[in-house]
Order: sequence, then C-alpha cells, then structure tokens
Amino acid sequence: MKSRVEKFHLYTMEERVNWVKNFVGLTQEDLRLYENHGALGKELSELLIENTIGVMEIPIGLAMNFIINDKETVVPIAVEESSVVAAASNGARLARRFGGFHTTVDESIMFSQIQVLNCQDPYGAKFRVLEKKEEILKLANEQDPTLVRLGGGAKDMEVRVIGQKNNPMLILHLIVNTLDAMGANAANTMAEKVSPLIEEITGGTVNLRIISNFADKRLARTRCVIHKEDIGGEEVVDRIVSAYEFAALDPYRAATHNKGIMNGISAVILATGNDTRAIEAGAHVYASRNGQYTSLSHWEKNKEGHLVGTLELPLAVGIIGGTTALHPKAKTNLKIMNVESARQLAEITVSVGLAQNLTALKALSTEGVQKGHMKLHAKNIAIMAGATGEKIDLVANKIVEAGKVRVDFAKEVLSQTP
Ligand code: MEV
Repeated sequence: MKSRVEKFHLYTMEERVNWVKNFVGLTQEDLRLYENHGALGKELSELLIENTIGVMEIPIGLAMNFIINDKETVVPIAVEESSVVAAASNGARLARRFGGFHTTVDESIMFSQIQVLNCQDPYGAKFRVLEKKEEILKLANEQDPTLVRLGGGAKDMEVRVIGQKNNPMLILHLIVNTLDAMGANAANTMAEKVSPLIEEITGGTVNLRIISNFADKRLARTRCVIHKEDIGGEEVVDRIVSAYEFAALDPYRAATHNKGIMNGISAVILATGNDTRAIEAGAHVYASRNGQYTSLSHWEKNKEGHLVGTLELPLAVGIIGGTTALHPKAKTNLKIMNVESARQLAEITVSVGLAQNLTALKALSTEGVQKGHMKLHAKNIAIMAGATGEKIDLVANKIVEAGKVRVDFAKEVLSQTP
C-alpha cells in the first residue's frame, strides 16, 4: 500500500480509520481509541483540521493560588508533563504575600509583512509607499469593517529596505490592532488585499504576505515579589538570582530556563485553543532580540533582601475567532479564568509563566527538581508497570522511598503487593 492516496481528503472518518488500519495492521482495540471524540466532537474535529481520525487527549489541571492585578484567579492549563500544574500553583502561592502578580499588556498590535521584489528604486519606492499611507490603510481597513467599528484595524505602516546592494527588497509592515483576536487572519487578509496597490506604487513584485510571529508590539509583562523567608532565606534568594544570571549569560541554560517558562505559557495557550507554535516562535525570537539568546525573565534582590521577578514576552493571544471560539472546552476554560478580553488572557498567561519559572529555579537552586518530579512521575511509572486503583499510590510510594523510580522496579514491587 502507498501513502499516496487519491482524494483521501474526501474519505469519511470511518474510511480513513479503516484505511490506516489496513495500512499498518491495527487491531480493533487500537481503533476503539479513536472512537471517542470528547468535548470537541466528531464534526468539529473534522472541521478544524484535515484527514482527521480522532482527537488527542491531554489533561487539564487547575493552577491554583493566583492573584493577578488584585483578582483571585484559577487557571485551567493543558499539559502532559507532571509537576507543571504543581509548580505553577506553588509559584503563585509564594507570590501571594506581596499581592501576587502585577501586569501590563500592550495593545493587540500585530503586523503583516509584505515582501516586495524587483524594485528599480527601492529607496524611492519606500518613500512613495509612505506618501500613500492613508490610501493603503483605508484599503486595508475596508477588508474588516467590524474590526474598524470596534476601534481596531490597520493603524500604521513601517517600510524598510533590506538585502544585498544588487538584490534589495522592500519590506512593508502593515500594523494592525486586532483587539480580542489573535489577528493572523485579519492582518493576512489586509496584506493580501493591499498588495496590488503596493505593486502599483513601487513598480515591484509582491512575494510573501504574512503576519510576523515576532509580535514585539504586543508585549505582556508581569512582576512579583517573593518574601525571602518563604523560600528559605536570603541565601536562597541569592542562589535564584545566580540561577537567573546563568540563563542570562548562557544560551544552553537559557533554552531550558525558557522551556520552564513555556511549560506554563504553552499550557494556558493550549487550554484556550490558541496557537502554541505562534506563541513559542514569538517567545524565542524575543529571547534573542539582542543577538544572543537569553533568559526571558529577570530575577533580582530588592533592598529588603526579597526576590523580585519580572517576565516580558510577546503574547499574541485571542479569545474570539479560530479554535478558541469553536472548541467548547477552550470557551469553558476562558470562563473558569473569568477572561473577557485578549488582554486579560495575556495577563494570566504571562503570570503563569513567571510562577512556573520561580518554582523551577527555587527547586533547582535547592533540592533539585528530581525529588518533587519523581514523586509525581512515580504514579505514571506505577501505571506503566500495570498498577491499577489503590495499587497506583502504594507502588508509587514504595518506588519513591526506595529511590528507584523505574518500571522494572515498579513491576517487582507490584508483584509483591497483595
Ligand atoms: C522541566 O520541564 C523544566 C525545567 O527544566 C525548567 C528549568 O530548568 O528552569 C525544570
């Protein structure tokens, strides 16, 4: 059998499942795993992507203890990794003594890039484009009257000439306020619609028309202060600051440090049906905006010796449009967070990232992460070894006590558990 199948996209879901069953020789038991479509349902899961055969379940856990801008908040986060929900909750608990998290979020400014090739006079063309700014913005805004009516829409333009002397290209940024939407669709449509006019003005040829995920005009910031006594005293504060400095100086460490931050951020993004890849791309390019990849967060000591944490990154999140508006669980997760605007969602998301980072650095600077992680991970191992019901905890506790959180040892313990 070949993986090239004519008109595969026209197959029904049953036909697709049956096809893949024959392709690899799946059993009826395997197929049953694809039967339940959860809250998304069969129809929506087929609508959202192509060639759907099922859904992938990831647990949603409640990250507790958050106070964000003086508001008590719980955050449903979707993640497959143990410890992440616990870490976010612990970080948020530690931040409570000084009022939790305080945030600021920029307006929902996205930009679409338009690449113009073959301009005879790129610098002249750049100025001609700027002279016609009002006309270009007007045409862009005609594509989305609702967005404009609500106060959003194309607001400005930036034009640059980049590239080699003998092969320059004109890069135009259409700057769009997308309000409560992530905004890729609105901004991309505008870019496509204005392109013929851009070609006319520049005499060049438009090539790409697509948003940038480096949404550096759409930053979210959060700040918290942690009482030194709550984390083991000033020595631990100093250790955490040194841990931060390590990430600030060394890309190898920064990647892992930021991965910890993204543990929290991506989990909120996933739980709300937003685009995890867009957010991750934006975060990592922002972390390298000065030429070297570095830490997204900062940790420092204030004059009383307490720990001050800050985190800033682009967060192009939406609460309307796309999967967010369609996925019943994404909608309900937003309800649990009490979120009514993209701004509020960004406030929560960035704070979960900082809480996560705090717990990771605290654990790494003191007892290490394995102790806590292994306690939670042990349950997975017990299940993998075949434990069910009450035996899961029994086996998990024994393998942790023995310091041997491994499937082979869990099997041994299970065989000896009545
Ligand atoms: C693991 O998922 C995340 C950490 O590695 C983050 C960090 O090292 O800061 C613990």
